[in-house]
This record gives sequence, C-alpha cells and structure tokens, in this order.
Amino acid sequence: MTLKKVLLLVAALIVAVFVLTACGAPGPAGPAGPAGPAGPAGPAPAATDLTCTQCHNADGLVAVKMAGWEVSAHGDGTAMAEEYGNKSCAFCHSGNTFRTAIAAGTNFSNQEAGAAEPARQDCYMCHNIHSTYTKDDFALRTEAAVALVVGKQTFDGGAGNLCVNCHQARRYMANFVDKTDATKFTYTGRFNTHYSSQVDVMLGIVDVNAALGVEGKATPHMAVEETCVGCHMGDAKNHTFKAELSTCVKCHSDATSTDVGGFSTELAAKVKTLEEALLAKKLIEQGAEGMAAVPGTQVDAKTAGAVFTYFLYEEDGSLGAHNPGYLNALVDAAIAAVK
Ligand code: HEC
Ligand code: HEC
Ligand code: HEC
Ligand code: HEC
Ligand code: HEC
Ligand code: HEC
Repeated sequence: MTLKKVLLLVAALIVAVFVLTACGAPGPAGPAGPAGPAGPAGPAPAATDLTCTQCHNADGLVAVKMAGWEVSAHGDGTAMAEEYGNKSCAFCHSGNTFRTAIAAGTNFSNQEAGAAEPARQDCYMCHNIHSTYTKDDFALRTEAAVALVVGKQTFDGGAGNLCVNCHQARRYMANFVDKTDATKFTYTGRFNTHYSSQVDVMLGIVDVNAALGVEGKATPHMAVEETCVGCHMGDAKNHTFKAELSTCVKCHSDATSTDVGGFSTELAAKVKTLEEALLAKKLIEQGAEGMAAVPGTQVDAKTAGAVFTYFLYEEDGSLGAHNPGYLNALVDAAIAAVK
C-alpha cells in the first residue's frame, strides 16, 4: 500500500469508530470510587480578618458615639415611648418606622400605621448598620433633598437633609383659619408648628410673614457646610447633637459662646416683652408646661401672627441662631402688632 492509501484507511477507521460508539447504547455507570482522605485543617481565621473589626475594635468607635448619643434627646427622649404606636407620630418618634418609611419613599404625613414596638432615634435609624458588615455601613440612610410637607419648598443642605425629614413643621397658622370667617383665626391649645420647625425657620417661610408684613429671608447659615450637621456635630461628628462653638468660630472668629455677640440674650429680652403683652391681653396663659394658647380665642390675622411667632421662637429652640435676622424681624413685628 502506498502511504496515501494507509492514511485514507486510518482516517476511515477513525470515522467508523466514532459512528459505532454513537450508535451503541451506553453501558451502566460504574460503582462510585472510595472517598479520598480528609485534607489538613486550614488556619483558623484571625479576628482581624473579620470585617466586623472595622467597627467593633479597641478604638471603641461605637462606644464613644453611643456615649454622646445616649445623653441626647435622640437617645433618651421620652416622647418615643409614648408615641411610637401612633401613626401620626411614629415616623419622627420611632427609629424603626423612620427607616422603613425612608426606604419606601413616604413621609410623616402619609404613614398608615405606627410601630408595633418602639425604637429610639438610634444608630440603625441614621446609618445603614449591619447591611454590608463593613465600615461603609456608617453611610447615612438618606441625604436626598427634602420636599417639605407643610412648607412646600425643597430643602437641600447636604447631610442636614437627613435631619430635615423630621425637623420640619407639622402645621402652619393656615391650619387654624376660622371655619365661618376666613379672615379670622380660631386657635386651639396647639396653636403652633410642633417642636420640629427648625428648617422652616432656616428658610424663613412660616406663614406668619404675610400677616406681620415681614419679608422671609433664608438664613445666612445655609452657608454652613452640611447645615444642621455642621453646627450640631462639628468636625468631630459629636453625637450629643449640641451646637458646637468650634463651628461658629470658623466664621465668627471672636465668639466665646453660642450666644454670638450677645444676640440670643437680646432677642430673649424682646421675647419677654412680647410674652408680657400677650399675657396682658389674655392671648396666652400660664399652662402646666409653660405658656399655652387660650383655646377657642378668635383673632385677626395680625394678632394670630404675633401669638404664632411667640410659639415659633419657643419651639424652634435655637434662641435665634437658626435664622437671626428673620426671628428678630418677626419678634419686632409681633410686639408692634399687639401693642
Ligand atoms: C459599620 C460598623 C459596624 C460593623 C462593620 C459591624 N457592626 Fe455590629 N454594631 C454596630 C453598631 C453601630 C451597633 C449598635 C450598637 C448598639 O445599638 O448597641 C452594633 C451592634 C452589634 C451587636 C449587638 C447586638 C445588636 O445587633 O445591636 C452585635 C452582636 C454585633 N454588632 C455584631 C457584629 C458582627 C458579628 C459583625 C461582623 C459580621 C458586625 N457587628 C459588624 C456597628 C458595626
Ligand atoms: C426620625 C426623625 C429624626 C431625625 C432623622 C433627626 N431627628 Fe433630631 N430629634 C427627633 C426627635 C423626635 C427629637 C426629640 C426626641 C424627644 O424629646 O423625645 C429630636 C431631638 C433633637 C435635638 C434636641 C437634642 C437634645 O438633646 O435636646 C437636636 C439638636 C436634634 N434632634 C438634631 C438633629 C440633627 C442634627 C439631625 C440630623 C443629623 C436629626 N436631629 C435627625 C427626630 C429626628
Ligand atoms: C415631623 C416630625 C414629627 C412628627 C410627625 C411628630 N413629632 Fe413630636 N417632635 C418632633 C421633633 C423633631 C421634636 C423635638 C424638637 C426639639 O427637641 O426641639 C419633637 C418633640 C415632641 C415632644 C416633646 C418631647 C420632649 O422631650 O420634650 C412631644 C411630647 C411630642 N413631640 C409629641 C408628638 C406627638 C404626640 C406626635 C403625634 C401626634 C408627634 N410628636 C409627631 C418631630 C415630630
Ligand atoms: C440622628 C442621626 C444619627 C444617629 C442617631 C447616629 N448618627 Fe452617627 N452620624 C450621623 C451623621 C449625620 C454623621 C456624619 C456623617 C457625614 O458627615 O457623612 C455621623 C457620623 C458617624 C460616625 C463617623 C463616620 C465616619 O465616616 O467617620 C460614626 C462612627 C457614627 N456616626 C456612629 C454612630 C453610632 C455608633 C450611633 C449610635 C450610637 C450613631 N452614629 C447614631 C448621624 C447619626
Ligand atoms: C448656625 C448653626 C446652626 C445650624 C445651621 C443649625 N442649628 Fe440648630 N441650633 C443651633 C444653636 C446655637 C441652637 C441653640 C441651642 C444650643 O446651643 O444647643 C440650636 C438649637 C436647635 C434645636 C433645639 C435644641 C434644644 O435643646 O431644644 C434643634 C432641635 C435644632 N437646633 C435642630 C437643627 C436642625 C434640624 C438644623 C438643620 C435644619 C439645625 N438645627 C441647624 C445652631 C444651629
Ligand atoms: C459659614 C459661616 C458661619 C458659621 C459656621 C456660623 N455663622 Fe453665624 N452668621 C454667619 C453670617 C454670614 C451671618 C450674617 C452676617 C453677620 O451678621 O455677621 C451670621 C450671623 C449670625 C448671628 C447674628 C449676629 C448679629 O449680630 O446679627 C448669630 C447670632 C449667629 N450668626 C450665630 C451663630 C452660631 C451660634 C454659630 C455656630 C453654632 C454660627 N453662627 C456659625 C455665618 C456663619
């Protein structure tokens, strides 16, 4: 045979083998082989290999932040224990409701239920704790700009946006328009914004402006980096949430307390004058927990604006700092309105 023929024959045999194997039925599977011997034990993971230690470590990172938080109203507030089950209150007063609601894109005005169990305004509320189990979990739940429910404007102040979801007014003066005479206001014992009006004051948008003839201007403090967080946590991100003098001195270099230039002391004296005028006209009265509006009182818009301003100053709680010029102008106009 020539070499060419040999090659052809070999090729034909290979093809035949393939065809025959393809046609034949497969035989039964052979028995399983014996298990191999166990390998040697791997090295035990060191604690430092666990991402947990990015937070749970000897620096006491969690413990230090917790110490400040515990003495703040977010950590020891009593309203949480009383209000968590109420759907009108739980968004702001129970941490578990807040984080579920933020994830669902709802706000305090459209909660369908309160919480089954209370939770403080805790680490898990503001941070994504135990999501990835790395230090990245200190990222904030939300930093998105907030469309204010009552104030109608949008607040966009960096990390402060987190806070504004709760620290916004629940009602304005317009909620108290008299049912029979729309030019008048009839107030209840709750003639106020609720204690959460900080952002409305910062933006200068509370609806007393028109009644008192005050032009509402946003605070110069919108320029503070991260707004609320800049003043209330400082560079150290202090979790007592108290206003930090170390932030004030970045701009007010000679400030020695948060009563910058004695501004808060002066404003408090004016508010005292307003209080005396309102008491004299029986527009407010001494209640069990401080001054209260006299329920059922019917007043014109200007007088209503003056009373509402008095409570706005009290509930904002900044003693003027949130929007110094605005609060000062409102208090001046309120005093003039009830003189
Ligand atoms: C982003 C930082 C961070 C990381 C990473 C982290 N934790 Fe935590 N852990 C926290 C914080 C904050 C708390 C809340 C402290 C509190 O409420 O007492 C907490 C609480 C706990 C608690 C107390 C019970 C509880 O749930 O409140 C345990 C147990 C725990 N962590 C275990 C772990 C383990 C295990 C890992 C890793 C798999 C881990 N953590 C990773 C921050 C972290
Ligand atoms: C889920 C709603 C919610 C969020 C978000 C929130 N707070 Fe609060 N905050 C509250 C409530 C409710 C209280 C009052 C608690 C009480 O007295 O029971 C409060 C109290 C405070 C107080 C008074 C502190 C004290 O110890 O007297 C300050 C200041 C404050 N918050 C600042 C902030 C800042 C700054 C942020 C953002 C980093 C923030 N809050 C985010 C609901 C919230
Ligand atoms: C939009 C968020 C929000 C809603 C909704 C809300 N609150 Fe509050 N509430 C706050 C904030 C913020 C504070 C604390 C502000 C501060 O410390 O200056 C507060 C403070 C209080 C306080 C004073 C707590 C103290 O320690 O002195 C009481 C009482 C209270 N709220 C009751 C209620 C009740 C009752 C409801 C429901 C009917 C409710 N709140 C709904 C945000 C809210
Ligand atoms: C009311 C909201 C709020 C609560 C409650 C809260 N934090 Fe924070 N935390 C913040 C904000 C805002 C920052 C600053 C974040 C920024 O600047 O990006 C911060 C920063 C931190 C940082 C620094 C993170 C970094 O990147 O350096 C740590 C650590 C921390 N928080 C731990 C905790 C622990 C632990 C708890 C519970 C005891 C807690 N926080 C509760 C709002 C909160
Ligand atoms: C210019 C700095 C500054 C900014 C910005 C600022 N605050 Fe304040 N805030 C203060 C000062 C000063 C006080 C007075 C009480 C104090 O000294 O702690 C105060 C008081 C408060 C109180 C009342 C505390 C109490 O003990 O009753 C709350 C609540 C509050 N701020 C929340 C906020 C929120 C929410 C924001 C953002 C919308 C904000 N603040 C922005 C400086 C600031
Ligand atoms: C980013 C810069 C900046 C920071 C930080 C800052 N402020 Fe201001 N503040 C201003 C500006 C701008 C004005 C308006 C111009 C002026 O009157 O000096 C102002 C005005 C004031 C006024 C009114 C002063 C007056 O006599 O009319 C007070 C009170 C005040 N700030 C308090 C504070 C407090 C308290 C802090 C810290 C918790 C603070 N500021 C942090 C920029 C800042």
